[in-house]
Amino acid sequence: MTGRGLFLSFEGIDGSGKSTQARTLADTLRAQGREVVHTREPGGSPGAEEIRRLVLEGDPDRWSARTEILLFTAARRDHLERTILPALDAGKVVICDRFADSTRMYQGLRANGLREMVDTLHDLMIGCEPDRTILIDMDPATGLARAKGRQGSEERFEDFGEDLQRRMRAGFLHLARANPQRFRVIDGAQDTGAVAADVRAALSDILP
Ligand code: TMP
Repeated sequence: MTGRGLFLSFEGIDGSGKSTQARTLADTLRAQGREVVHTREPGGSPGAEEIRRLVLEGDPDRWSARTEILLFTAARRDHLERTILPALDAGKVVICDRFADSTRMYQGLRANGLREMVDTLHDLMIGCEPDRTILIDMDPATGLARAKGRQGSEERFEDFGEDLQRRMRAGFLHLARANPQRFRVIDGAQDTGAVAADVRAALSDILP
């Protein structure tokens, strides 16, 4: 499904440090001479970056969870067609900062029945998973304080508060236990160098 390249994703709650780790891994692999596409969701293609602005800025109740499922999936479809699949077809390593697991958690856990809706739409419109997903696990209070400290304009989900972050963390850990071949869980409370070393170790079988 994912061509000749390698598709890696990073997941975690807000402020988990996953974006730093995704960037560090991209730099490390490039220094080894590998061709890497470092990308993110929502976004990663011009159209999907426009959708990013729609979903991440504004009031927390700007969109319903159902509408968000459609917007995030639309962004993902564009990102997949224009960025991810061409890179994988060209044999590159794609490092994606969030992918479908984020929709499973952030939208799927917001009300009963939404998780099934996310999965159904994913099967219809996306139909692929990363070869490996690195989950950076982080205490929700620490993560939220770190995310809030950034003072950006993309605070719609951070505005949902610590309770949402707590449910996301539990949900991500549950997802990882249910998909042990794809997921590796790493303790994000360590210093960034130790987390980066754990990330490399978690990929040693597929990126020797
Ligand atoms: P980021 O801070 O990692 O760039 O992610 C932006 C926010 O978007 C984060 O709060 C999680 C949220 N998000 C979803 O709610 N659903 C999704 O499918 C994705 C990819 C992100």
